[in-house]
Amino acid sequence: MKINKVILIYFSPTRTTKQIVEEIAKGMGPDSTEPIDLTLPMPTTSDFGDRTDSIAIVGVPVYGGRVPALAVKRLQGLKANGMPAIPVVVYGNRAFEDALVELKDLLQQNGFLTVAAGAFIGEHSFSRKNLPIAKDRPDDKDFKTAFSFGKEVQLKLSDIDEAGTLPTIAVPGDVPYKKWDPPSGAPRTREEACTLCATCVDLCPAGAITVDDAVVTDPSKCILCCACIKGCPGQAKWIDVERINQISQWLHENCADRKEPEVFLQ
Ligand SMILES: Cc1cc2nc3c(=O)[nH]c(=O)nc-3n(C[C@H](O)[C@H](O)[C@H](O)COP(=O)(O)O)c2cc1C
Ligand code: SF4
Ligand code: SF4
Repeated sequence: MKINKVILIYFSPTRTTKQIVEEIAKGMGPDSTEPIDLTLPMPTTSDFGDRTDSIAIVGVPVYGGRVPALAVKRLQGLKANGMPAIPVVVYGNRAFEDALVELKDLLQQNGFLTVAAGAFIGEHSFSRKNLPIAKDRPDDKDFKTAFSFGKEVQLKLSDIDEAGTLPTIAVPGDVPYKKWDPPSGAPRTREEACTLCATCVDLCPAGAITVDDAVVTDPSKCILCCACIKGCPGQAKWIDVERINQISQWLHENCADRKEPEVFLQ
């Protein structure tokens, strides 16, 4: 089968997942691409039917060894009827645990045929100047792996008549998936550094921030993705959540050894 179009689907608050999905797509060298960004709170529904000349690369970050709940919710709006897909998770150099199997299962339930899969590494959302964690990942080596993986998938598919003849890809992970209690809280704002530019409002995947004569963040909506911290032009956002500070310190000390991407293709 010949893949002419690659649909890039991603939930990516701090954009490392987006970069990996884009590089895999480049490696596939399709005639055309279509991005579907599920990061921001805009309703997105699509039914891809049984398109056989297209493939979806679906990327999410790993939160607590799982697919972020908000990404699960947004992915539920995408349906297919046999279109091939590649689930991809990006994690912060600790572990991806059950996230890849969860994403694969979700796509299968929604009618996609998962023909290959990958787990890549991105700079940890909680990484900061004095506590770097997987700093500057993905880097050139990661991008090379992502590109070659895309190329390999394209070659594999060109060898067969239809994706339905391939077995569902096997990936590591346990079912039932591990339980994870997300930390609660929200970043704070240094008023003296804030220009009320509202960039953080536009970056927030959870719609948790409002700006009027001050920045107000709703901790009941915040998923602690750190997009507002990394994207604030005045470095006015910071995290003062005890559990996050402890986790960041632990990750900095215990997850310093470089992990490498893993790809799955039968
Ligand atoms: C709430 C939260 C939980 C996370 N849990 C994990 C984890 O279990 N394992 C891991 O290695 N990285 C974890 N990370 C790090 C992200 O998976 C990683 O930084 C990823 O590259 C972020 O993707 P993005 O840039 O597309 O947002 C977590 C990040 C956040 C915000
Ligand atoms: S992005 Fe930063 S400077 Fe702009 S409103 Fe938000 S906190 Fe203030
Ligand atoms: S307020 Fe919370 S959910 Fe919104 S961008 Fe900031 S950390 Fe992410």
